[in-house]
Amino acid sequence: MSSFKVFWVAFLMSYRVFFTRVDCKKSLVPAMYVFGDSSVDSGNNNNLNTMAKGNIYPYGIDFNNKSTGRFTNGKTFADLIAVKLGLPLSPPYLGVSEYERYKVVTGINYASGACGILNDTRVGDCLSLDMQVKYFTSTVTNDLPQHFQRKDEVQNHLSKSIYLLSIGSNDYALNYFSSTTYQNKTPIEFADFLLEKLGSKLKELYDLGARKYVVAVAGQLGCSPSKFCEEVKNEKIKPLSDKLPKKLQDLQAQLSGSSFISSNPFNFFNEIKNAPEKYGYRVFFTRVDCKKSLVPAMYVFGDSSVDSGNNNNLNTMAKGNIYPYGIDFNNKSTGRFTNGKTFADLIAVKLGLPLSPPYLGVSEYERYKVVTGINYASGACGILNDTRVVRRN
Ligand SMILES: *[C@@H]1O[C@H](CO)[C@@H](O)[C@H](O)[C@H]1NC(C)=O
Ligand SMILES: *[C@@H]1O[C@H](CO)[C@@H](O)[C@H](O)[C@H]1NC(C)=O
Ligand SMILES: *[C@@H]1O[C@H](CO)[C@@H](O)[C@H](O)[C@H]1NC(C)=O
Ligand SMILES: *[C@@H]1O[C@H](CO)[C@@H](O)[C@H](O)[C@H]1NC(C)=O
Repeated sequence: MSSFKVFWVAFLMSYRVFFTRVDCKKSLVPAMYVFGDSSVDSGNNNNLNTMAKGNIYPYGIDFNNKSTGRFTNGKTFADLIAVKLGLPLSPPYLGVSEYERYKVVTGINYASGACGILNDTRVGDCLSLDMQVKYFTSTVTNDLPQHFQRKDEVQNHLSKSIYLLSIGSNDYALNYFSSTTYQNKTPIEFADFLLEKLGSKLKELYDLGARKYVVAVAGQLGCSPSKFCEEVKNEKIKPLSDKLPKKLQDLQAQLSGSSFISSNPFNFFNEIKNAPEKYGYRVFFTRVDCKKSLVPAMYVFGDSSVDSGNNNNLNTMAKGNIYPYGIDFNNKSTGRFTNGKTFADLIAVKLGLPLSPPYLGVSEYERYKVVTGINYASGACGILNDTRVVRRN
C-alpha cells in the first residue's frame, strides 16, 4: 500500500482528501474530462489518419491483453485517477457515436497522441488542444443538455467535475527540437509561449463551466525512449514544468472559484530514476483496480476499535447503535463505536473489499455467502477471557 500512497502524493500533491475518501461504489466527483497527448489518449487516434496509433499489440498487454488505443501496456495516468475517483474510464470522444455521446455523463477523453498545445505540433492527423476544447464545447452545448433537464444542472455538473490535462511533450519533441519555427526562442521564452497558450485554453474551459483542474506538462523527454538521458534536452524542457505552478496560481487568483493542481512528472521521474524500488515501480501501475480487490477477504478480530455491530446482538451496555455514533456514516448508527468508519473499514476500502459484516449480524443460514471477510470484534472485550464489563451470553 505504501507505494500507492507515494505515487499519489507525488503525482497529485495536494488532492489527498480526495483519495482518503475513496469508495468504489460511489464516485467522488460526477465526471472527469481528459485532454492531452499520448500520455492519456484512450483511443481517439484509432479514428484518425495517423501512424501514431496505440491499437496494436503489445500495447495493452497488461490491459487484459487488449490494445485499446492507449499508448501503454496497461492503464494511463488518467485511468488510474478515474479508478481512484470511483469513475469508469473515460471513453475516447471519437470512439463514441455522435448519437450516443449525450449518454456519457461520467467524463470523456479528448486526448490525442502526437498532438500538443500548439496547433502546428503534430505528425499526421491528431486533435490539437484547440480541437479538443472545441469538441468539449460541443459536449457542453449539444450533449449534456440532452441529459440534464435544466441549465443549472449542467453548470453544477461541470463545476464539480475534474479536468485533467497532460500535454506539452510533443511541442518539444515534434516541434521545438525538430523544426525551425521556434528556434529564435530561448527555452524560457518557449516555455512562456506554451504556458500562455495553455492558460488561454484553461480559461476557455473555465468559461464553459470548469473549476477543478489537474495539469501536467512535459516530462523528461531527454530520457525517452532510450535508457540514456540526454540532459541537454532535459534542461531545455525543464522551464515548462518549473514555471507551471506559478502560472496556475495566477490563474486561480484570476478565475474566481477555480482550483488548480499541478502535477510534475519531470520531478517525479527524477525521483523514480534515483530510487525505483522505493516507488515499487514494477507493481503499482498494474495493481490498482477498484473492481478487483487486492486480496480475497479480510477477517477482523478485536474490541470496540473495530467492532462493526456484534455487540448489537449481545446483552451489554456497550453498544454503538445509538446516535450520535455513526453521525458521519450516513448518520446511521450501525454499532460501530465511532462517528464514521473504523480503522478496519478504512483498510477494507483501500483493499477494494466491502466492509466486513458483524458475525452476529448475519443469519446463520446466510453466513456461507459472505466470502469477502467477517468481523468478529466485540466492544468491551479483550485478550483475556475475564476482561469484560457486563456478562455476555
Ligand atoms: C495477447 O494478444 C496477442 C495479439 O493479439 C496474442 O498474440 C497473444 O497470444 C495474446 N497473449 C495472451 C497471453 O493471451
Ligand atoms: C489554431 O487553430 C484554431 C482553430 O482550430 C484557431 O482558432 C487558432 O487561431 C489557431 N491558433 C494558431 C496559433 O494558429
Ligand atoms: C441524524 O439522526 C438523528 C437520530 O436518528 C436525528 O435526530 C438527526 O436529525 C439526524 N440528522 C440528520 C442531519 O439527518
Ligand atoms: C477462555 O475461554 C475458553 C473457552 O471459551 C477456554 O477454552 C480457555 O481456556 C479460557 N482461557 C482462560 C485463560 O480462562
